[in-house]
This record gives sequence, structure tokens and C-alpha cells, in this order.
Amino acid sequence: MTIEDEIEELKSDYIICQCYEVSFGDIMEAIENGCNSVEEIMHQTHAGYGCERCQSKIDDFNEDRDIYLSDILEYSKSKE
Ligand code: FES
Repeated sequence: MTIEDEIEELKSDYIICQCYEVSFGDIMEAIENGCNSVEEIMHQTHAGYGCERCQSKIDDFNEDRDIYLSDILEYSKSKE
């Protein structure tokens, strides 16, 4: 399954940022409102300001997270 397939199957209440309980729907709304970078999404939703692990994949973090803010942004841009 590709990242795109996984994102398409996400429910809007799926929590992407556990630190601030920001959902997939909140992030999509921020993108629809014009956020065009991970920083802008963070600023609007507060996602990513805690442990920072939801921002984008960093190989140093050995974890089972699949979907990051950067993946959702990339996915949205590919659908424009
Ligand atoms: S999970 Fe998003 S900042 Fe920690």
C-alpha cells in the first residue's frame, strides 16, 4: 500500500499529531485554507510544536508512524 492509498483511507478524525490532538481533517482544512508548507500548517493548527515527530520522517526516530504532515501536504499538492 502506498502512502497515497493510506492517506485516502484516513478518516477525518484520525489523529496525526498526538501532542496537540490535531486530526487529519484539521490538517486538510488548513491546507484548503491556503497553508502551503509544513511550517504554515504548524502555525495554523499547532500540530508539530510538541515532540516534532509528526512533522516529517526522520530516520533517527525508530518508530511505527506512517503518515506525517509533510506526506499529507505532498499528497494534497499532487491532487491539485
Ligand atoms: S506528535 Fe505532533 S508534535 Fe508530537
